[in-house]
Amino acid sequence: MDSKDNPEKIYPSGYEPKETHTEGNVRNLLLSEILKSSPTEFINTDLFTVMSKRRSTRKFTDRIVETVKIDKIIAAADTAPTAGNFQGFEIFYVKSPEKKQQLVEACNNQPYVNAPVVLVFCKNPARVKFDFPEEVLKKFAIQDATLAAAYSQLAAQALGLSSIWIGMFDEQKIMKILNIELIPSSVLCIGYPKQEKFPKPRRNLKELVHPVW
Ligand SMILES: Cc1cc2nc3c(=O)[nH]c(=O)nc-3n(C[C@H](O)[C@H](O)[C@H](O)COP(=O)(O)O)c2cc1C
Repeated sequence: MDSKDNPEKIYPSGYEPKETHTEGNVRNLLLSEILKSSPTEFINTDLFTVMSKRRSTRKFTDRIVETVKIDKIIAAADTAPTAGNFQGFEIFYVKSPEKKQQLVEACNNQPYVNAPVVLVFCKNPARVKFDFPEEVLKKFAIQDATLAAAYSQLAAQALGLSSIWIGMFDEQKIMKILNIELIPSSVLCIGYPKQEKFPKPRRNLKELVHPVW
């Protein structure tokens, strides 16, 4: 059944599913339609190429990021695994130029926080409906929010964009600016980089991995 057969189902313009489908999975269909939608230019989206090329950027051009790319970046977050599939996180997409400027101050005066796209990933342990101690639910929510942001960061790279992950911020200040009760876990700032840079070096893999027999 599609939206023509069922007037209650409304899809954002451009994301109406082409295939017929069964009841009950509309939300997932929207997600898959966004993920399947074509990029606006040719980009090598091979996962390992994306990973090997990603490099944090703190200088963005003024070029506006296309809505279809922002949709994909947000959809990518929604594909991340979450504890119990409870999705213990929320994304606040900051559009207000004034609030972006206020976030600069809340993020230890890091000027690049005023980026073309600013996503604040927050923990939402109340969504994690396990009968576990609160500490465990909080631990799950921070992992959910972190993974989601990491998926968005990779998606941004795959779409020819670059990003900077911000972890240095005053939680209370961000909560006040966004008028939210949830605690932020990271701020992801995205845009077109002024300059393509080589990925940063890492320590030797052998130092990183500790085989345990
Ligand atoms: C948890 C975390 C917190 C970070 N916080 C900041 C930050 O507040 N400001 C900043 O400029 N970069 C921040 N970064 C970005 C790192 O500096 C950057 O990822 C690191 O230098 C490695 O560079 P690469 O991302 O290009 O590989 C953070 C990254 C992570 C994962």
